[in-house]
Amino acid sequence: MRTEHTQQTRGVEQARTRDGFASAIGAFAATLGSAVGLGNIWKFPYLTGSNGGGAFVLVYLGSVFVVGLPILVAEHLIGRKTRLNAIHAYGSIVPKAKYWSLIGWAGFLSAIFIMAFYTDVSGWVFAYIFKAIAAAFTGGVLNAGTFGSLAGGTWEPLLWQFLVLCLTTSIIASGVSRGIERVTKTLMPILLVLLILCDIRALTLPGAFAGVTYLFRPDFSKLTGSAILTALGLSFFKLSLGMGTMTTYGSYMPDSTRIVPNATRVALADTVVSLLAGLAIFPAVFAFGESPAGGPGLLFNIMPLIFSKMPFGSVFTIIFFILSAIATMGAMLSLVEVPVSWMVEKGKMKRPTAAYLTGAMMFALGILATLSQGPTLGNVKILGKNFFDLFDFLSSNVLLPIGGLAIAILTGWLLKKQDIVRELEKGYGEGKKPGYIQLVYVFIKYISPVVIFVIILNGFGIV
Ligand code: PHE
Repeated sequence: MRTEHTQQTRGVEQARTRDGFASAIGAFAATLGSAVGLGNIWKFPYLTGSNGGGAFVLVYLGSVFVVGLPILVAEHLIGRKTRLNAIHAYGSIVPKAKYWSLIGWAGFLSAIFIMAFYTDVSGWVFAYIFKAIAAAFTGGVLNAGTFGSLAGGTWEPLLWQFLVLCLTTSIIASGVSRGIERVTKTLMPILLVLLILCDIRALTLPGAFAGVTYLFRPDFSKLTGSAILTALGLSFFKLSLGMGTMTTYGSYMPDSTRIVPNATRVALADTVVSLLAGLAIFPAVFAFGESPAGGPGLLFNIMPLIFSKMPFGSVFTIIFFILSAIATMGAMLSLVEVPVSWMVEKGKMKRPTAAYLTGAMMFALGILATLSQGPTLGNVKILGKNFFDLFDFLSSNVLLPIGGLAIAILTGWLLKKQDIVRELEKGYGEGKKPGYIQLVYVFIKYISPVVIFVIILNGFGIV
């Protein structure tokens, strides 16, 4: 009783001195801001397009709600219970079992791997805003050549990547509630409005319906074990899971946040954004007789081409890339925050120093990813992949699913059930107990870990 009391007092003191989200709505916006990003607008459409459409979408939806959502809840509750950065949270949640901090360290590594290619793509997006504006004034077009010379170039993509990192780290340097929370709260609604505008445009094109069918009619003959692992990896990447981001954000959540409803809303809203992005892209792809399997270039090669064949196309191109740029910001903020929160809490570093140092590490690997898209490093292959694909593969298909599995096992099998229940009941008035906790617990303890385990084995061809 006494130790519990001391622990509680310590928790309260930490909560007081630590920066955090100021309100439940701010916590929701920041969490959603982390989830929504290139994953919805770039990865979801191109992976759906290269994995045959509807069946992939269905497996993806399944893994968001059966596996992803329970892990999102687990991460939030570990974060809020410990009120610590991810490395310390996992290292201290089970007494005398510090090695669980490995989850946090793997997350640290994943954050840097992901940012290495994420900032490259985000840089392309920012560049495209300016290219689209220039094209609108000169009457030029953005075509495959535009993308090829940007992505395959040397100084131009590096410069954009550098600018993107400067922007992100300077927001992080200004703090959790004043930086992350304020920016995401303003940007999220704008994002939604812009996306719906693009949908209306695409869906009213003649022949648009083929794209809708492609997105929603499953053809299971196209599904392979590795496609299922990719769908699982995508759901982790999408919800920023398996690497401590959502643990870190959980640690900033006020006690008034009801973890399960908040996580459910985030998963739903994020899925809606992906589907809205799919509904902007595929109907247009089909209406103009393009191929959906355009790979990572789908967004950049096809969208401007499609827009150029529409009335007011140049305006929509500009809107579309502003929208994508907005989406990348919230996600990048949360990726940078994982290492930064540790450096600030452990290393007693100043926030700006930690932010710029993290940015420098990300840029160092980022240079490799960016130059691997062009002649400079294009021929360097590790495990048959260039640096860009390698960082993507190692994070999405290896580190995040294994991290998620470890988090589910830790939460379901090593934490005390009553501690979990207590954390999930927070935010409800005295005496009011939500009825869903038992169900959530079963998902965290049994269903998620088993499903992840089978998918990992299957994806690597083991079963
Ligand atoms: N969820 C983000 C997106 O979809 C990417 C991300 C992954 C962010 C992991 C944080 C952590 O773009």
